[in-house]
Amino acid sequence: MADNYLEKRYDEVFHSQKVRVKRVGPNVDELLRRTRSVRGYNKAFVVSEEMLRRIAAVNSRIASARNQQVLRFRLVTRGPEADAILQHVRMGAALPELHLPFPGTEPEAFIVVCSTVDENRMVDIDLGISLQSMSLKAVEMGLATLIIAAFDHKAVADILGLPYPPLMILAVGKPAEQIELVPVNDGDSLHYYRDEKGRHLVPKIKPDQLLIESLWPRD
Ligand SMILES: Cc1cc2nc3c(=O)[nH]c(=O)nc-3n(C[C@H](O)[C@H](O)[C@H](O)COP(=O)(O)O)c2cc1C
Repeated sequence: MADNYLEKRYDEVFHSQKVRVKRVGPNVDELLRRTRSVRGYNKAFVVSEEMLRRIAAVNSRIASARNQQVLRFRLVTRGPEADAILQHVRMGAALPELHLPFPGTEPEAFIVVCSTVDENRMVDIDLGISLQSMSLKAVEMGLATLIIAAFDHKAVADILGLPYPPLMILAVGKPAEQIELVPVNDGDSLHYYRDEKGRHLVPKIKPDQLLIESLWPRD
């Protein structure tokens, strides 16, 4: 290879006027805005195993405490397993009067997240990064998710014959709900609610109110 070939090639590729950076898909803020917890799905759309595989594949690209990568993922698509799991998850506990999900809008695909080691603080941080990363990928694919902590762990482990304890379930599907974020002040109610049009509204504390003020004088 000629001397400084790589340097020249780098300049050609990255400093050439012809190179245009093309944005594909939504930016991070927009993706995050769309990444809402969905509790009603369009059952006319079937989530395939291949789709769940693409979502779970993000786990080979994310941060992990000590890079231990202890999480494992069981994919569940439409069928008897999914029907059985649905009996053991609880959705929308803050709106008990609605008995979510509404009949005919139940999720039918799940990613059950397990850990090969006992749960601890680092495993839980890995878990959060994993669930959010998978949710972002699902939204990029035109799907939606719900992180589910409220489920019967033993029942789900038995139904699926899991070799490791399940920590969390991610429901995946085509969204059939309208969801909006509502900016609120710190101290306001943070309970999600529904309006007269059936829209699901999620209060979020305004960004400036999430910051801790410096006690040091500013110049
Ligand atoms: C760790 C965690 C556990 C959750 N568990 C449940 C659950 O068991 N059932 C449910 O309906 N929603 C669950 N959610 C969804 C939250 O209720 C939801 O994130 C919150 O209402 C804010 O809505 P948003 O995700 O659209 O911002 C969970 C979310 C997180 C992060």
